[in-house]
Amino acid sequence: METPLGDFAHTPVLLAETVRLLDLSRGGLFVDCTVGLGGHARAILESRFAAKLVGIDRDRQALELAAERLQDLGERVQLVVGRFDQLEDRLAELGIDRASGIIADLGVSSMQLESAERGFSFMHQGPLDMRMGAGELTATDIVNDYPEKELSRIFHEFGEERHSRRIARAIVEARSEAPIETTGQLRDLVERAQPRPRRGPRRRSIHPATRTFQALRIEVNQELDQLRELLEQSVRMLERDGRLVVISYHSLEDRIVKHTLRDLATGEIEPITGRPRAESRVIEVLTRKPVRPTAEEVAANPRSRSARLRAARRL
Ligand SMILES: C[S@@+](CC[C@H](N)C(=O)[O-])C[C@H]1O[C@@H](n2cnc3c(N)ncnc32)[C@H](O)[C@@H]1O
Repeated sequence: METPLGDFAHTPVLLAETVRLLDLSRGGLFVDCTVGLGGHARAILESRFAAKLVGIDRDRQALELAAERLQDLGERVQLVVGRFDQLEDRLAELGIDRASGIIADLGVSSMQLESAERGFSFMHQGPLDMRMGAGELTATDIVNDYPEKELSRIFHEFGEERHSRRIARAIVEARSEAPIETTGQLRDLVERAQPRPRRGPRRRSIHPATRTFQALRIEVNQELDQLRELLEQSVRMLERDGRLVVISYHSLEDRIVKHTLRDLATGEIEPITGRPRAESRVIEVLTRKPVRPTAEEVAANPRSRSARLRAARRL
């Protein structure tokens, strides 16, 4: 049975840690670049310090739900549709050129994942879509039009899928008979394309289609390029002492966050001495290791299982 949109529950991940690392006691304007269903946004605004919040999301449907859910907070919250690469432009349109803190909770929301017609999940039968916002290619376009080599590269790079070539081959064979248009078709095809283990029962910790679906979602939404833009633009928007908090859900994302923050914290390298120029440091990293959810949080909210939070302070 379908869940009515308004009924989606979304438990915000690493909430207490997010609020602590944003250091709301400095007050001012906070930007939630992934407002989703408004969970983190509400917690920020319920602190007595954060004066205002701008909530951004590329998904109009999410913004409509967030607007309903945050209605009681009145004019302290402004919601805007936009992608990470439009962050500075969207804020400039609101007359904002500095923020006290910026948060991004990456990936998809439970609303997107659970809506069969959005096509994100192999657990639900639906059209192979996977767009978070409007206007981009759908997963159907990619699966039916990309050359075999390109599909294999995407599954390998974005899904870290060991059987990327076999899966790409199986897709190309299947689509020569008829287009692949549903989540169920792709799930079954990927399952059949993977080799069975030689001995013993099949033992996998994740469903065999997980990596292929993750890779397609990243390609459809250009998620890694978006993340690079988010980090670059956020750091430019932060006021001195402003905080950036990013929660990621897989190693590709976390690697980008970790390396970008490290480079910004090191600064430029002096060509003669090979030493970093201290005055060119842009941020201080506040999390030497990523913050992970506790066993209690994972038990209460399994979606938090793979979350890793990293935070920085603008110098
Ligand atoms: C995990 S959910 C956020 C949930 C939210 N923190 C809450 O507590 O309800 C991620 C949201 O980020 C949005 N999103 C992902 N990538 C984006 C991008 N590049 N630009 C704008 N929004 C994006 C998705 O549409 C989704 O609604």
